[in-house]
Amino acid sequence: MTFSISSNTQKSNSFPAIQQQIPVTFKYAVHFTQDIFNIKNPLLAQTIAADGTATVKKAIAVVDSGLLCHCPQLLNQIKDYAQWYHQDIRLSLDPIPVTGGEQAKNEAKFVENLHAWIERAHLCRHSYILAIGGGAILDMVGYAAATAHRGIRLIRIPTTVLAQNDSGVGVKNGINAFNKKNFLGTFAPPYAVINDCNFLTTLDERDWRSGIAEAVKVALIKDRAFFEEIKTYAEQLAERNLVIMQKIIYRCAQLHLAHIAKGGDPFEMGSSRPLDFGHWAAHRLEYLTDYQLRHGEAVAIGIALDSTYSYLLGLLSWKKCQQIINTLKTLGFEISIPQLALNKETDSSISLFQGLKEFQEHLGGELTITLLQDIGQGLEVHEVDISLYKRAVSLLQNWDN
Ligand SMILES: NC(=O)c1ccc[n+]([C@@H]2O[C@H](COP(=O)([O-])OP(=O)(O)OC[C@H]3O[C@@H](n4cnc5c(N)ncnc54)[C@H](O)[C@@H]3O)[C@@H](O)[C@H]2O)c1
Ligand SMILES: [Zn+2]
Repeated sequence: MTFSISSNTQKSNSFPAIQQQIPVTFKYAVHFTQDIFNIKNPLLAQTIAADGTATVKKAIAVVDSGLLCHCPQLLNQIKDYAQWYHQDIRLSLDPIPVTGGEQAKNEAKFVENLHAWIERAHLCRHSYILAIGGGAILDMVGYAAATAHRGIRLIRIPTTVLAQNDSGVGVKNGINAFNKKNFLGTFAPPYAVINDCNFLTTLDERDWRSGIAEAVKVALIKDRAFFEEIKTYAEQLAERNLVIMQKIIYRCAQLHLAHIAKGGDPFEMGSSRPLDFGHWAAHRLEYLTDYQLRHGEAVAIGIALDSTYSYLLGLLSWKKCQQIINTLKTLGFEISIPQLALNKETDSSISLFQGLKEFQEHLGGELTITLLQDIGQGLEVHEVDISLYKRAVSLLQNWDN
C-alpha cells in the first residue's frame, strides 16, 4: 500500500479502524519432585537453563517465614544449590525471608519492599524470582514480579497443599486492598511451577486440610469420579496420608490447568468463573473473620452452603447434598461458623450476602455464580433467592441436630 497525503487539506478525512490482533501462547510446566534444593536434584537448575540462552541467570529467592520455622536450614540450602549450579543460576541477593500467611497480602508494604529488593538486585526481564511458600506468598510475590519492569520471570515453588493443587499452578496473582480480597493483581502465567511434596510434611493440621477443599470444589463441578475418590479416602487424608495426598494434588492441579487452558477464558474476561464455586461466600467469610479462617476452610463452608442451596433449589438430590457435607466433615472441616448467620439485614456491612455484590463487582458484568446440578456438574446461575440462602444457612447451622 502506498502512502500519500491528499493536497485537499480542506476536506476532513475519515479513517477506517485498524483491527489489531495479537495471538499469544503461554507454555509452562508444572513439575512434581522431592527435595528440590538437594544438589543431587538438578530440576530447578535445568528449568532455568532450559530458557535457551547461554548466559548465567540472575535470580532472587523469596521464602515464606512460616516455612522457615520448620526448615531453618532452607536459606543456606538454597544458597548452596545456587553455588553448585553456578553455571545456570546466580543469586543476586541472599534468600529473602518474608512473613507468610494472609498478612503478606493484606499489607502493601510487602510488595513495596519486594520491588525495592528487585531494584537493588538489578533484576531484568530475563532474570528469575523464585517464590517459595504458601498461596499468600505466591500471590504477593507474583504480583510484585508481574509489575516490576512489567514482568520478571516467576518460578513458583508452592509449599502448602492449596498452593500445590490450585493457587500456585494458575495464572493469577494479587494482594488485598480496601478490605477486599485480591483487589489488586494481574493475570501473569508463571515461567514454571515446581511442587515438592516434602514441604507438605511440616504443615500444621489446618493447612494440611485447608487445600483439600479446592480439590473437593473442582471435583464437584467437573469430575464425579474424582469426588468419589476423595470421599473414599477422606479418612486417610484427614490422617495425613502423604501418598494419597500427592495423588489428590496431582489430579486437582491437572483439572485446574485443563480448565485454564481449555475453558475458553483463561484471563477471565467474561463474567463467569466456574473454578470459584463456593468462593463468593468464602471470600466474604475470610474478611468477616478478619482472615482468621484459612482460605480453604472458608471454601469448604462456601461449598457446603452452595451445595445446600442447590438442594433447596431442587437442582441436587438430598442424598448427594448429604454426601458432600459428610465428606467435608470427615475431612475435618467445619461447615458452619457464627459469621455465616450475620445475614439478618442483607445490606448490613457485616452481612454474608454483601459477598454476592463484591463477587459480581470483582468479575464484572452480570452476577454469575456456580451451583451444582449433580456431583461433577456445575451450573451457572445469574440470580439468587436470598431467603432460600438463609434457609441453607439454618440447615448448616443445625446439621447435626
Ligand atoms: N492465585 C490464585 O489463583 C489463588 C487461588 C486460590 C487461593 N489463592 C490464595 O492463596 C492464599 C491461601 O494460600 P494457603 O492456603 O497456601 O495459605 P497461606 O499462604 O496463608 O499459608 C498458610 C500458613 O502456612 C505457612 N506455611 C507455608 N508453607 C508451609 C510449610 N511447608 N510448612 C509449614 N508452614 C507453612 C505460612 O507461613 C502460613 O502461615 C489465599 O490468599 C488465597 O486467596 C490464590
Ligand atoms: Zn480458592
